[in-house]
Amino acid sequence: MVNEFDDFAENYRSIHDGNLKISGGDSNYFSEYKILEIKRRDGDKKIESIFDFGCGDGIPLSYFRKYFPKADLYGTDISEKSIEKAKNKNIPNSTIFLINDERDLQNIENKKFDMIFISCVFHHIDDEKKLNNILNECYRILKDSGVLYIFEHNPKNPFTRKIVKDCIFDKGVRLIKHKRLKKLVSNNNFKKISVNFTLFFPRFFLFNPLFIFEKILIKLPIGGQYYIRAKKI
Ligand SMILES: C[S@@+](CC[C@H](N)C(=O)[O-])C[C@H]1O[C@@H](n2cnc3c(N)ncnc32)[C@H](O)[C@@H]1O
Repeated sequence: MVNEFDDFAENYRSIHDGNLKISGGDSNYFSEYKILEIKRRDGDKKIESIFDFGCGDGIPLSYFRKYFPKADLYGTDISEKSIEKAKNKNIPNSTIFLINDERDLQNIENKKFDMIFISCVFHHIDDEKKLNNILNECYRILKDSGVLYIFEHNPKNPFTRKIVKDCIFDKGVRLIKHKRLKKLVSNNNFKKISVNFTLFFPRFFLFNPLFIFEKILIKLPIGGQYYIRAKKI
């Protein structure tokens, strides 16, 4: 099945980099910061397995490899070409597979994960039922001690809105407000849900001294992105 991301898989990173110029960072930077944030929050826990839902071309998985060297990595996506690119990265201890749609998650029967990571996928799925199905399956395949991370663009941030509006593979998407996503996560039984805001300042060198304040601003709902962290129990 051909997917919209198949059309962009080859040049995904260069398109993204061009689009992100006004932010001062590139797509690698924005992938790595997420994994560093997760490492800061949960790096001290025993994380043996990580599942990246909507893994795209596998860049976040490469950073998981770097910062969680002992974990077995799993990634899935509906874009065949993106999966091909992710597999070609030959990330050690990784299992990367194609799904037709979220219903294929039901085929994961004998495996549970310490961590599930979903980055900038949900705003491409503007369908409440599908989002609920995904979250319901994520809940099922997460270990009791497991943690869920969902990163999304913050529609309240004007720079984020501009970047998304100008991005060719974000055409027509509707960004998800943090309150709606929190409700969806809560409706699917997750507990200890927190919403955290990130990327308050542009990533140009000049702004470096301000980055330390972002940890203090984490509850201020105007950062460029936000993430939900939730536990199974
Ligand atoms: C903006 S990209 C993000 C890729 C990766 N998560 C990252 O952060 O670099 C969105 C990805 O979500 C995938 N996607 C969209 N709908 C999906 C679905 N229903 N199930 C799995 N993946 C999906 C797309 O194919 C694409 O690879």
